[in-house]
Amino acid sequence: MPDEQREEHGAAGALSGERVSPPASFVEQANVSDPGIYDEFEADWPECWAAAGDSLDWETDYDRVLGGDGPPFRWFEGGRLNASANCLDRHLEDRKNQVALQWEGRLGESRTYSYLDLHREVNEFAAALRELGVGADDVVTLYLPMVPELPIAMLACARIGAPHSVVFAGFSADALATRMDAADSEYLVTCDGYYRRGAPIHQKNTADNAAIEREGDVEATVVVDRLGNGAPLGDGEYDYDDLVAEHRGATVDPVPRAASDRLFRIYTSGTTGEPTGVRHTTGGYLAYAAWTAQAVLDIKPEDTHWCSADIGWITGHTYTVYGPLALGATTMLYEGTPDYPEKDRVWDLIERNAVDVFYTAPTAVRAFMKWGEEYPDAHDLSSLRLLGTVGEPINPRAWRWYHEHIGGGECPIVDTWWQTETGGAMVSTLPGVDDMKPGSAGKPLPGVGAEVVDADGDPVDPGETGYLVLTRPWPGMPESMAEQDGWFAQRESVRPSLERFDWAYFTEDGATVDEDGYVTLLGRVDDVINVAGHRFGTMEIERVLADVEGVAEAAVVSGPDDLKGEALYAYVSAAEGVSEDDLRAAVHDAVEDAIGAIAVPDVVVFTPDLPKTRSGKIMRRLLEAVTHGDDLGDTSALRNPEVVGEIESALDDPPT
Ligand code: WT7
Repeated sequence: MPDEQREEHGAAGALSGERVSPPASFVEQANVSDPGIYDEFEADWPECWAAAGDSLDWETDYDRVLGGDGPPFRWFEGGRLNASANCLDRHLEDRKNQVALQWEGRLGESRTYSYLDLHREVNEFAAALRELGVGADDVVTLYLPMVPELPIAMLACARIGAPHSVVFAGFSADALATRMDAADSEYLVTCDGYYRRGAPIHQKNTADNAAIEREGDVEATVVVDRLGNGAPLGDGEYDYDDLVAEHRGATVDPVPRAASDRLFRIYTSGTTGEPTGVRHTTGGYLAYAAWTAQAVLDIKPEDTHWCSADIGWITGHTYTVYGPLALGATTMLYEGTPDYPEKDRVWDLIERNAVDVFYTAPTAVRAFMKWGEEYPDAHDLSSLRLLGTVGEPINPRAWRWYHEHIGGGECPIVDTWWQTETGGAMVSTLPGVDDMKPGSAGKPLPGVGAEVVDADGDPVDPGETGYLVLTRPWPGMPESMAEQDGWFAQRESVRPSLERFDWAYFTEDGATVDEDGYVTLLGRVDDVINVAGHRFGTMEIERVLADVEGVAEAAVVSGPDDLKGEALYAYVSAAEGVSEDDLRAAVHDAVEDAIGAIAVPDVVVFTPDLPKTRSGKIMRRLLEAVTHGDDLGDTSALRNPEVVGEIESALDDPPT
């Protein structure tokens, strides 16, 4: 996090006592406006979560809200339901002609699906998937950009009980192959290509390359024709439109799933070199998605909700697809970028679609702020009722700008803290109940157990820095945690002592808490870097760099970035006689090939050597301090102190 933001978080941010109350007009209409909800949930835990479970339609009612006093935890035990039926069928009676999905294409085209339309197309595609051989529990990989076929395919999978695995469209062939192999997935839905910043991206070629690299076989590949070129199809490859046309009018009965059956898996970066597969359940996840969408995002069936995150990430799964559709609202999907054709594109879309709730990343807010208020000022944004942010801390200055220039001073802002693992928001103000403190996410949601503790696991005093731990199970927990006995952490070595809890999950985030219980997040304490709200494991990138010919050694750390919050800095020492320019290009290409363009380091710094301890370990903390221009602290353990000066001068004199 840049220093300016760090300071703002501490001194001028949440801890300064700045408070903003939600306007009375918002509170009056809010889904949740009774402050008693915190005590009620506390007094009635875990039964309080029936509020979430009962918001869904069950094929077979559940026997218990939470089965198991200890792991394995079974939320809504005994219940059976289907996620697609909850997102579609149950809305047909009351709102079949209401818009379910409003798609806005990159080139100004749009498509509107009513609940009836979406129900029809999901059924037809579900029938097609079945005919291709997809059965319950077969993993279907969805490698698609932001086109309507992506949520349609997700719901079609859910309908037949086949877990989906959405792989972000910007990932490389290698990354796709790794994820398909890890999920043992034999079915793929992709597209011929799509446009990004004016240039066609040939997605199918990338998918073909992945198929070559894969260990497992691909049974069937479905190709959405997005470029309109009618890409040639080989054996086992099917055109999406043809398949749907062949199944015109087909209906598929939603397959009842046990609450704890898997709805999907999604890959995220962890502290190991390999991406981590997070598996979410049908009942617990969906109930939690719906409950948080109504309590935190205040979504109502008549609302148009726009979550700008790509569906390739958990945010899009929960708050573009499952949450809003479970509630019967209109969800908007935007294919393009915020600055094309003009920097007012987002505000134009909000105005034209009368968006009620807008949910985006602080990085985007900082970009909007940099572009200037003339862009939002040129549009009528009065349809907006609530604003949200997710993925990284929002610095108070950006918060105030968002509040004033987008919300007109009248929309509460929810700064929602959560993770791929949590399935839905965990720490946030309730917009109809709580005051907001710019820079602080707020309190743990009702029923959520979260504490900021020191290394011994004891609660820290207000204002002190500690570790954020989740101390109780919640419905949106992933399978791995539900099954785990004792304490859950991605990496045992860095977790605080959690002995005093029966069960706890260490989030790997640093945080402070104030006297009102508001949590202010301070960033990851592990080797994961959060760039523009996307998570990168440093090891994952370092492994790629280490394999580049000419690289002797490399380390990736977090560096400052005004817009993105954090940036990826790669420190590379070159082998003897290798040209830095060539190596820079090779590093760029290698990361793009292995992971994707989003993981290419923002800054590559060449250094004759990396700072090391006497035992030869790279001192990452020191590298990070140098990168941020922070005080270096105790450097006595350093074997090669002279490299610090060399790195500092390389940083002062960045390559152009
Ligand atoms: C990490 C999780 C939740 C979906 C998007 C990211 C950071 C997330 C906030 C917030 C400060 C935040 C944390 C967390 N993070 N939301 N409101 N304030 N930091 O999901 O890729 O799993 O990343 O994002 O560091 O651990 P993810």
